[in-house]
Amino acid sequence: APDIPVANVRAHLDDLQAIATANSGNRAHGRAGYRASVDYVKAKLDAVGFQTSLQQFTSSGATGWNLIADWPGGDPDSVLMVGGHLDSVTAGPGINDNGSGSSGILEVALTVAAQQFQPQRHLRFGWWGAEELGLVGSTFYVNSLSSTEKSKIKTYLNFDMTGSPNPGYFVYAGAGQPAGSVAVQQMLVDYYTSVGVQTELTEVGGRSDHAAFARAGIATGGTFSGAEVVKTAAQAAKWGGTSGVAFDRCYHRSCDTTANIDVPALDRNTDAIAHALWTLAQVETPPAG
Ligand code: PHE
Ligand code: CA
Ligand code: ZN
Ligand code: ZN
Ligand code: ZN
Repeated sequence: APDIPVANVRAHLDDLQAIATANSGNRAHGRAGYRASVDYVKAKLDAVGFQTSLQQFTSSGATGWNLIADWPGGDPDSVLMVGGHLDSVTAGPGINDNGSGSSGILEVALTVAAQQFQPQRHLRFGWWGAEELGLVGSTFYVNSLSSTEKSKIKTYLNFDMTGSPNPGYFVYAGAGQPAGSVAVQQMLVDYYTSVGVQTELTEVGGRSDHAAFARAGIATGGTFSGAEVVKTAAQAAKWGGTSGVAFDRCYHRSCDTTANIDVPALDRNTDAIAHALWTLAQVETPPAG
């Protein structure tokens, strides 16, 4: 799999920060900064040949959108989907949560196009709206699919908070961990093993957008560099950083800016996205959820 240049991911984060700064300091559902974020990501994808669409929904009396991008080609009956939420909370610009995952997925998608990757499986990318209101956009998307369309999505990978300033390296499977998800989780663990980074397997339950897919029986997995929980001494010994301090002390706060990113964590997590995508895209029989 390609090594994704972290500088490119950081450039997207700078652009998302500028969008928040120009729009009352956030990119939240129902606010101008969210729509501007969607338009930003969509324009990048449209320019390199993705088939994009906006899926509109209403939540708390405001309009929201999911952005879906299909890479033409590959087996339409074996879709590999990669996604993360693009909205922030209203308190701040949401650069680690979740500009980080959003920008990493965007850069991986742009790399698919730059390399004219022709995978065995069909690739689809999703940027979800209104995650911060309770997984609203991703749940709306999964519920909008017919049972036939749903059954074609064999794998969903989720990335939410991948550059926490005091990072941990957590890998999760589906909510409830069906057997197939453990195999998906392993693809993500394999990348970290290959670069000598220890991981902890965790269960994040319904705390991010993979939950909507897992509930539909789709094999899911993702990585996460930690939020409000405090890093232990044992974790600081294996990962560095500061014990007794939260993985992200700016979680859901105004200080979740471009200064709130650990660049090596962002780099590793983005390379993990590329590794899992390039590997799973060529798997003939994806692990079942
Ligand atoms: N989804 C949470 C949020 O956006 C963060 C989170 C991500 C928690 C992944 C656990 C695992 O606030
Ligand atoms: Ca890299
Ligand atoms: Zn959040
Ligand atoms: Zn999040
Ligand atoms: Zn690899």
